[in-house]
Amino acid sequence: MKLQALISFASLVTWVDAHGYLTIPSSRTRLGFEAGIDTCPECSILEPVTAWPDLEEAQVGRSGPCGYNARVSVDYNQPSDYWGNEVVATYTAGDTVEVQWCVDNNGDHGGMFTYGICQNQTLVDLFLTPGYLPTTEEKQAAEDCFLDGELKCTDVTGQTCGYNPDCSSGEACYRNDWFTCNAFSASSNRACQGVDGAALGSCKTTIAGGYTVTKKIKIPNYRSDHTLLRFRWNSFQTAQVYLHCADIAIGGSGSGSSSSSSSSSTSSTTSKTVTTSATTTTTCTAATSIAVVFNELVTTTYGQNIYLAGSISQLGSWDTSSAIALSASSYTTSNPLWTATINLPVGTSFEYKFIKKGTDGSFTWESDPNRSYTVPTGCSGATATVTATWR
Ligand SMILES: *[C@@H]1O[C@H](CO)[C@@H](O)[C@H](O)[C@H]1NC(C)=O
Ligand SMILES: *[C@@H]1O[C@H](CO)[C@@H](O)[C@H](O)[C@H]1NC(C)=O
Repeated sequence: MKLQALISFASLVTWVDAHGYLTIPSSRTRLGFEAGIDTCPECSILEPVTAWPDLEEAQVGRSGPCGYNARVSVDYNQPSDYWGNEVVATYTAGDTVEVQWCVDNNGDHGGMFTYGICQNQTLVDLFLTPGYLPTTEEKQAAEDCFLDGELKCTDVTGQTCGYNPDCSSGEACYRNDWFTCNAFSASSNRACQGVDGAALGSCKTTIAGGYTVTKKIKIPNYRSDHTLLRFRWNSFQTAQVYLHCADIAIGGSGSGSSSSSSSSSTSSTTSKTVTTSATTTTTCTAATSIAVVFNELVTTTYGQNIYLAGSISQLGSWDTSSAIALSASSYTTSNPLWTATINLPVGTSFEYKFIKKGTDGSFTWESDPNRSYTVPTGCSGATATVTATWR
């Protein structure tokens, strides 16, 4: 009788489809999905484990810090043709950047999540070696290192960091250094989808449509040409943990260092996400200019248009009559995307803003401060992407 009860509970757990995965920067899982290898990116699940209230108790086992998707038998801890060989984003030490994951609608179990960077390159390199699958011990050592290298919610000045309403003071989950979803049973803006309150379909999942979950993290003062950003979500409702990694680089130039008192202190890099897709660094012709994709999420009404103006001649030297028009060809209500691709010389630094042109020809500028950007270096053919939201 008891055995029977256990079995049906176990099958219930696997039935509940609560799922999510790291989308910005592009996780290995997202790349696997886009390559058609993974048919359910939100289905990399570590289960059954103790996910609540002790957020760090679960051993990661085969899932490792980067996740194992049992549905398609893909282990993301090992590089493949489609992920792990190139970085997808280059950040600057000390910068604050926006990161995003996607939670599926069909069972958003609430809970808490964290991001981490392991500052032991020897250990991380095991996850960057083509043809090498880290052992279970190495996977756990790396996960312990990612937890040590937690990128705390509270590290970002001005970011609201609350306690999870499903956790009581005194419980191990009562901590605001991790990021929290809203109350699991809240009547509105519930659970993880309530964090952004974005529309259904604002990001892509395969089960029932996804909702974005966006937060800011501060890149630590650590340099690496290739390392991993690890995302971990502990479910409140189910005995599940979700683990994902993105291949990133952390450079040292820029105004991000905490001690800098740069004269251009009004410039801001807070909402930029840089994604570069360079070919391998070993045999590469250095690009002199690269295509930079500017994505701006801004809701417009019919007849309004979005332009990009900035301090360099390619962006019209702040002259609205020479500003670059963005295209709304991919615009949808749930993803109000305006985009333009501009070739820019590598290393160029500039300030810019998006502007909205009304039907009467008037311009509305984004609020201050100016945005700033430096075109990354890369191999010939590399592209970079800047993603921003109207402010
Ligand atoms: C880094 O990880 C390796 C492999 O697990 C370990 O032998 C080494 O002691 C670690 N280094 C530091 C500084 O923790
Ligand atoms: C943005 O740049 C313009 C043009 O250089 C400048 O006039 C303006 O003061 C800048 N805004 C801020 C807040 O620094």
